[in-house]
Amino acid sequence: MDITIIGTGYVGLVTGACFAEMGHIVTCLDIDEDKIKMLNASHIPIYEPGLEELVKKNKKGKRLFFTTDYEKAIKSALVCFVCVPTPSNEDGSCNTSYIEQTAKFIGQYIDDYKVVVTKSTTEVGTSFQIKKIILKELENRDVKIDFDVVSNPEFLKEGSAVSDCLKPDRIVIGTEAEKSTEIMKEIYHGFTFKQDRLIVMDILSSEMTKYAANAMLATRISFMNEIANICKKVGANVNNIRKGIGSDTRIGYSFLYPGIGYGGSCFPKDIKALCHLAKKVGLKPTLLEKVDEINVEQKKLLAKSIINFFTKNGGIKNKTIAVWGLSFKPDTDDMRGAPSITFINQLLDKGAKLRLFDPIAMHNAKKLFQEHKNIIWCRDEQHAAEGSDAIALLTEWKQFRFLNFTPIKKMMKTPLLFDGRNQYHPQDMQKKGFKYIGIGMPNKFE
Ligand SMILES: NC(=O)c1ccc[n+]([C@@H]2O[C@H](COP(=O)([O-])OP(=O)(O)OC[C@H]3O[C@@H](n4cnc5c(N)ncnc54)[C@H](O)[C@@H]3O)[C@@H](O)[C@H]2O)c1
Repeated sequence: MDITIIGTGYVGLVTGACFAEMGHIVTCLDIDEDKIKMLNASHIPIYEPGLEELVKKNKKGKRLFFTTDYEKAIKSALVCFVCVPTPSNEDGSCNTSYIEQTAKFIGQYIDDYKVVVTKSTTEVGTSFQIKKIILKELENRDVKIDFDVVSNPEFLKEGSAVSDCLKPDRIVIGTEAEKSTEIMKEIYHGFTFKQDRLIVMDILSSEMTKYAANAMLATRISFMNEIANICKKVGANVNNIRKGIGSDTRIGYSFLYPGIGYGGSCFPKDIKALCHLAKKVGLKPTLLEKVDEINVEQKKLLAKSIINFFTKNGGIKNKTIAVWGLSFKPDTDDMRGAPSITFINQLLDKGAKLRLFDPIAMHNAKKLFQEHKNIIWCRDEQHAAEGSDAIALLTEWKQFRFLNFTPIKKMMKTPLLFDGRNQYHPQDMQKKGFKYIGIGMPNKFE
């Protein structure tokens, strides 16, 4: 099938490459000329495991194309997937202006039947807004062209986006017309070959499903972070609590990891958008507001802990902190909403010196902090640890898991480790001569 992807970012590029892998003919469109130039030269603008191979293979196979030409891209496809950004407005509501802009173009250029699919996470009701905008454009052109709108929210996770997309847990489709339902089933046939994973529902429920899924996951994280903070005060270890409750099949182990708060481009904005939506319809989203509030505080926790420690030990000013991991999660170069941003700003404000390292996200992090006299960009985790007064682990990249801490300890001024992701065992680190401070467990050093 001929498919156009509008918005070639983390979602659009991965989706486009995976559709092409399933044999569809896919054109990825973007307004960012540099990005399209890069992709046409087979350079991948984002890091996502497995993506580069998939893009190159399907480009070579003439199933995947990149363009900035809206008219051509829309006219050539039967189905247009909208994957443009939906950031937060100042009041927390979902900014649908990129989607509206896209709908206008679609209305201006379609010349035969199309299915317009919203993949972006967006305010409940947006698909109908898209329909209105396209109808208005058609009215302006004084033409009648049949089209359908569909909601098909995306559930991929950055860091495992390609495999999530090729082997989805489920595919949610919100439709209002049989014809578009059948077309969507055909598109996803290759993905559901072994097992039917399609869940077809009405459009509003489909749009709401995405918000509910993210809200549930964010709630589990904030819940666990709150439990972790209580654990620390009462002398319990949250790692044990996680095992103790995760083994209950009604609870399960997923998303029970305490840490330094959720980040990324989705959870924070989607929880805020859902809160805003609830208020718009006259409700008070008590739980969801607290989920967000807990997260905002949790993001500050690790830096506060470091500042408190050094306040009692000679002051934080001019202390050197090695920072391991900057991206909002492992296996991505995405810095959007990363807890490291809050962390770095808190410590710079107090006059600390930072030696930063991330395996993949350095180039994006540099754009955020640029030149700062108290920041040194390091080539690896050992380099970051050199001469430092403490290490702070912010992102649990696998390469940090099994390190030889003996030389690392030698190159540090003081062997002190703040583990924002509970990656190490406290006793093990103590045996290696480190003062270890994790999340949600007591320690004798603070
Ligand atoms: N990133 C994720 O993990 C993820 C997962 C599920 C859902 N989502 C949702 O998917 C949507 C896209 O997210 P993303 O992370 O891919 O964003 P992104 O910023 O990585 O990509 C968006 C792309 O759209 C392009 N664009 C902007 N306006 C455009 C226009 N008018 N026409 C064509 N292209 C345009 C941008 O240049 C950019 O390349 C958002 O609604 C997000 O909430 C994201």
